[in-house]
Amino acid sequence: MSSIFVFDAYGTLLDVHAAIGRYRSEAGPEADRLSEIWRTKQLEYSWTLTLAGRYVEFWTLTQRALDYALARVPSVDKALRGKLLDAYFTLDAYADARATLRTLKARGHRTAILSNGSPDMLQGAVNAARIKEDLDAVLSIDVLKMFKPRPEVYALVTDRFGCRPGDVTFVSSNRWDVMGAVAFGFHACWINRSKMPDEYPDFAPRQVLRDLTALTNGA
Ligand code: 2OP
Repeated sequence: MSSIFVFDAYGTLLDVHAAIGRYRSEAGPEADRLSEIWRTKQLEYSWTLTLAGRYVEFWTLTQRALDYALARVPSVDKALRGKLLDAYFTLDAYADARATLRTLKARGHRTAILSNGSPDMLQGAVNAARIKEDLDAVLSIDVLKMFKPRPEVYALVTDRFGCRPGDVTFVSSNRWDVMGAVAFGFHACWINRSKMPDEYPDFAPRQVLRDLTALTNGA
């Protein structure tokens, strides 16, 4: 029976730390600390603004989060800002992303991205990762002017495909995103690449996998 596989973008199909990875030597020994603060603040801004009933698009939040991270980690040359943002706009996909999407499509499943990313960000990322032809839909929260894990965001999927939440398998490396998806009624796979401890015990994923390839075992 064909299903609908919906993927989070940043952190799941796309490696958010690939941006700093391209400039690791120029960034110096605190490269990873900068990247962690950058990602943490990008997400924090999306949650706090949504809780306050406000919206600023994700690309702007990404830039503000990087500026904050550069202020916190002065050992990284601020002249890298432009290069890091360009790299973020064309992030590398994980090695198994394209093959997994292709396999799912070959087996008759439908595939989509559901992301906080603004439409231009997602177009840049999908084109750079060469996965456009493997996706039936690329859904950005921008139309709603609110971020994950608001339930209205996950409803973009059931609206787009005319399906019930139970028809959807949602795949994310972000455990908070998995919580939102399960709360909405999706079946969820948590891609736990770095063996993080589990959280949100009331909203358990159906599967915990080490990588995307594992999705195609039996799908
Ligand atoms: C997303 O792509 C931010 O990873 C999150 O929606």
